[in-house]
Amino acid sequence: MFKIVRKQKLAPDVCLFELEAPKVAEKRKAGQFVIIKLNETGERIPLTIADSDPNRGTITLVVQSVGKTTHQLNQFSEGESIQDVVGPLGKATEIEGCSLAVPIGGGIGIAVAYPIAAALKQAGVEVISIIGARTKELLFFEEKMRTVSDKLYISTDDGSYGVHGFVTDILKQLLESERVPDRVFAIGPLPMMRAVCKTTLDKRVSTVVSLNPIMVDGTGMCGACRVTVDNNTRFVCVHGPEFDGHEVDWVELMKRQRMYCSDEKRAMELFREKNAHRCGGQCHD
Ligand SMILES: Cc1cc2nc3c(=O)[nH]c(=O)nc-3n(C[C@H](O)[C@H](O)[C@H](O)COP(=O)(O)OP(=O)(O)OC[C@H]3O[C@@H](n4cnc5c(N)ncnc54)[C@H](O)[C@@H]3O)c2cc1C
Ligand code: FES
Repeated sequence: MFKIVRKQKLAPDVCLFELEAPKVAEKRKAGQFVIIKLNETGERIPLTIADSDPNRGTITLVVQSVGKTTHQLNQFSEGESIQDVVGPLGKATEIEGCSLAVPIGGGIGIAVAYPIAAALKQAGVEVISIIGARTKELLFFEEKMRTVSDKLYISTDDGSYGVHGFVTDILKQLLESERVPDRVFAIGPLPMMRAVCKTTLDKRVSTVVSLNPIMVDGTGMCGACRVTVDNNTRFVCVHGPEFDGHEVDWVELMKRQRMYCSDEKRAMELFREKNAHRCGGQCHD
């Protein structure tokens, strides 16, 4: 069992959990993730290790409620435990050959961009970060990103904070006006990562994306996380999650992401019905 030692609400539907997981905390590197199972009958879901503290033996996960399991997890409280946490999984972020990097996090992708920016900074790379969200209240980790960045730019779609527009608007300006970075890291919703790749393709700037397909076993055996990169089949859980964004087949990936939409909707409806019986709906936001 993996005990939750700290829980913090970061934004509507987004919670941070610090979990006791000493072995994972000791080994994990930026870019890696865990697969968790809440209880005996729970579904396995992948979550990025946003941070760790080997001295305390803890890892930090940031979770956005999108379906049944993420809603269920975000209702867990400090002191409660998660049944299984497997990891660290996936390959670590490649940092070599980088002197100026631009990590970009959109929405929940900010939680994934943070450890990448931190590892770059620790390796002595100059880091210019961009974070964005639909609106101000959905932004989080601003101060944490600031501490690991030489410069931090912020955008909101509605202009409620930072630059009015998308992260790609800031990136376009950066690519025009400042030194061209050796590498851009883009993490966020698929359309955002795809838009970043389109922006950097013209300038031929190496662009790494962290993909988040559906996963089941996390060991390269089931094929659920299959993606096509440079016309080759790759399993995100073992070959990724980070890939050259200019080589990803985005159309196929978006189609595969929607494959289980009706099952996921049904699972969420059943979860809400069951929850309403137990607590009269009091536990929903
Ligand atoms: C390597 C990796 C790292 C990840 N890191 C994080 C993280 O740090 N924090 C976090 O909140 N989420 C992260 N995710 C996404 C997270 O795993 C999914 O949101 C979760 O599995 C959804 O489970 P669910 O039962 O709540 O929702 P489901 O019922 O499975 O899905 C509900 C809705 O969410 C969409 N969805 C399902 N899976 C994903 C996905 N993988 N990415 C985007 N949308 C999805 C579905 O299309 C559907 O609309 C990561 C995914 C991967 C592969
Ligand atoms: S999750 Fe099964 S092969 Fe990657």
